[in-house]
Amino acid sequence: MNQELKQYIENNIFPIYDRYYSHGMLHINNVINNCLMLAAYYHLDSNKAYTIAAYHDVGLCVNRNNHEKESGKIFIQDQQMKKYFSDVEIEEMKEAIEDHRGSRKDPPRNMYGKILSDSDRDFDIKILAKRQLATSIKNYPDLTTFDEHFERCYSYMTKRIEGFGHFNLWTNNPILIEQRDNFEKDYLNKEYAKKIYKEEWERISANGTIDKIKNYYVDY
Ligand SMILES: [Fe+2]
Ligand SMILES: [Fe+2]
Repeated sequence: MNQELKQYIENNIFPIYDRYYSHGMLHINNVINNCLMLAAYYHLDSNKAYTIAAYHDVGLCVNRNNHEKESGKIFIQDQQMKKYFSDVEIEEMKEAIEDHRGSRKDPPRNMYGKILSDSDRDFDIKILAKRQLATSIKNYPDLTTFDEHFERCYSYMTKRIEGFGHFNLWTNNPILIEQRDNFEKDYLNKEYAKKIYKEEWERISANGTIDKIKNYYVDY
């Protein structure tokens, strides 16, 4: 990895995530690690993999539904990138960032988009409960009870399985496939999933995090 590029991103991009909750540095670091693992597996460029993972959610302070486009915009407007990548590479990386949403039906336009999208999954029910409940609280202020939020989160996720029979992956790396299969067993047991989400709900209700999600954190 280019250390100067890494330093630039650590100093200038990571601080943007300080006021992100569901998409804070815990999430970004997970996506970076997955993306580097997939890049090595598919013999892709680690500088590109690291960079697209680092920028992929920066647009979430603008809105949620279009955040992948907003993140792509922030990425191409960053003049520093020209020091490290050619115009063709920058375009390819912008497309990858734009195509990262897990809910999309069409495959990402290039291989970097595929590894980024697959790296963005949280195949860990506790992490997913934390992120999904917070996103729901921020985006659906009319829902107030745990049951309302849980049912919305659960149907959003299970819709993802429709048509694919699985939480879809665009790549076929065996490590991610195993994580996905283990996760599906947990998640599709609705009673178990509800118990995990309920524990998370009680935790964030008791420690003031719900108020912070509404009033302090800026990611949707
Ligand atoms: Fe995202
Ligand atoms: Fe993400």
